[in-house]
Amino acid sequence: MTSTVIAGLGTYAPARVLTNHELERMVDTSDEWITSRTGIRERRIAAEDEATSDLSLAAARAALLDAGLDATDLELILVATATPDMLFPATACLVQHGLGAANAAAFDLSAACSGFIYGLSVADAFIRSGTYRTILLIGAETMSRVVDWEDRTTCVLFGDGAGAVVLRAAEGDPKAGAPGVIESRIYSDGSAWDFICLPGGGSRRPPAQDLVDRRLQYLRMRGNETFKVAVRNMERAAREVLDAAGMKPESLKVVVPHQANIRILNAVAERLGVTEEQMVVNLDTYGNTSAASIPLALRDAVDQGRLGTGDVALLVAFGSGLTWGSSLIRWGC
Ligand code: ACO
Repeated sequence: MTSTVIAGLGTYAPARVLTNHELERMVDTSDEWITSRTGIRERRIAAEDEATSDLSLAAARAALLDAGLDATDLELILVATATPDMLFPATACLVQHGLGAANAAAFDLSAACSGFIYGLSVADAFIRSGTYRTILLIGAETMSRVVDWEDRTTCVLFGDGAGAVVLRAAEGDPKAGAPGVIESRIYSDGSAWDFICLPGGGSRRPPAQDLVDRRLQYLRMRGNETFKVAVRNMERAAREVLDAAGMKPESLKVVVPHQANIRILNAVAERLGVTEEQMVVNLDTYGNTSAASIPLALRDAVDQGRLGTGDVALLVAFGSGLTWGSSLIRWGC
């Protein structure tokens, strides 16, 4: 059978580090509040001349190098992002141009913090159907450009970054021990679209209105409501891929969750019955980087020797939409 393997992984984080202590000088907050309520200590902020496509390109080049492939080998480029360079063209097209990936189709995918899981699910379907054999999937965000730096309830949470994987067709059954994507599930509930949204800049409230009310340009979040559904749905999504694969939480080497809030991650771990050693957490250094957070955490898990060939990882995410989803992968990079 044809399956999807991760043949290369690359990440990029902007150089500028913004600490909680610096935020104390910008809004009415404290390192103690941010650390205890979220687990975040610092985050990366893109330079003035860096947009999402620049972060994406850096991560993509690293992933191609890791895979030992040229940009011209790519047949599809998918960029999962909630913070594209512009409404159109797609950031993926800018990445295609920047890489010189002349043979690749390119499009963006909008699923906010679940974007990487959505992208992996879409890419896996393309590969298993035989449509493409080599796909570049990127999760990239410049959240610093869409948060209101005067709003303490949101600006302390987010950060910028990018992660990319090169996905390739391979023969083998990941359920039976071969590397690759074992199972994926994606879900949405548009009735709660206003839990996390950025109202301005689109066709409902076009950019001219942003000039009248500048707050339309910024992300809004109903944090408490989001928190509760995030925990419930991440647990459900995790259990559904595990059940579909006939696996138990204890057989997972690592769980790589979307890095939203340490209290959400602890609650999900407790409900699933996975240990602290299994959970990969790096939100203390990156904050919530939305679609970039899972590949950034995967990179750390591999670099720390916590995920090696043959190990099974559970990826699980939740975000605006609402969207959520999960993937089980057997590592073989
Ligand atoms: N510093 C100090 N005080 C603050 C800050 C801050 N940065 N932010 C809020 N507060 C205050 C509030 O004003 C409130 O004060 P009050 O009691 O006097 O009214 C108090 O702290 C408590 O506020 P809550 O909102 O109840 O705090 P909570 O413990 O719920 O934490 C948080 C807020 C961190 C946002 C949490 O709800 C959360 O993480 N929610 C989920 C976020 C998430 O998962 N998002 C999904 C992905 S995002 C995406 O898709 C783009």
